[in-house]
Amino acid sequence: MSEKIKIIEDGPYLVSPGVPLKINIIECAGDGLPEKWAEGKTYDTQGKPYALCRCGRSKTKPFCDGAHTSCRWNKKETAQNIPYMQSAQKCAGPRADLLDKEELCAVARFCDRHGQVWNLIEKDDETSLKLAIEEACNCPAGRLTVVKDGKVIEPQLPREIGVVQDPAMKHRGPLWVKSGIELEGAKGVKYETRNRMTLCRCGESSNMPFCDATHLRCPHMKGADE
Ligand code: FES
Repeated sequence: MSEKIKIIEDGPYLVSPGVPLKINIIECAGDGLPEKWAEGKTYDTQGKPYALCRCGRSKTKPFCDGAHTSCRWNKKETAQNIPYMQSAQKCAGPRADLLDKEELCAVARFCDRHGQVWNLIEKDDETSLKLAIEEACNCPAGRLTVVKDGKVIEPQLPREIGVVQDPAMKHRGPLWVKSGIELEGAKGVKYETRNRMTLCRCGESSNMPFCDATHLRCPHMKGADE
């Protein structure tokens, strides 16, 4: 059976058995800017299907506890389901191009590390290109990708779901879905299968089911998962 996430109407994300679920932490350097991803614990999902909170109000995050039935949240899938390559903006550079689909931004901030990826891609030297690729590949949402010699450069990621933690912002982050796990909407719509995407789990995104960084303004997303 292929790994899949199914959105339950007005409810959680239902994940097929065997998809690993891990804590992923945005780790910052001394200057306060994100530098690398760190791994936390792996949840024991016992090889069974599991339901992940989508409304953000569960007391057992990242898992659903039924809270979605008794709170107000943005249940509706509002994202335009247009393939990335057809909807991303291109920033052309001398050595490679940067593709950018801004509405997918989860504000993980790796693109700010070395003077911003948009500036790096405009420079005509190998070091800047290397840093631009590194920053784009650290973007969990797949908002940013570098295209060189006609090839999209993607990081190698394990097939799993990361439960993002952002200790510098003192907030929980989205669900980081990696390596081509399928996503099906509540009404059966198939979203584009991608190497990276971030799903909203605060219940407040304006681009459901994708994260748009609203979680950083949500009191119920303060803190960290354990
Ligand atoms: S988790 Fe909801 S907007 Fe990011």
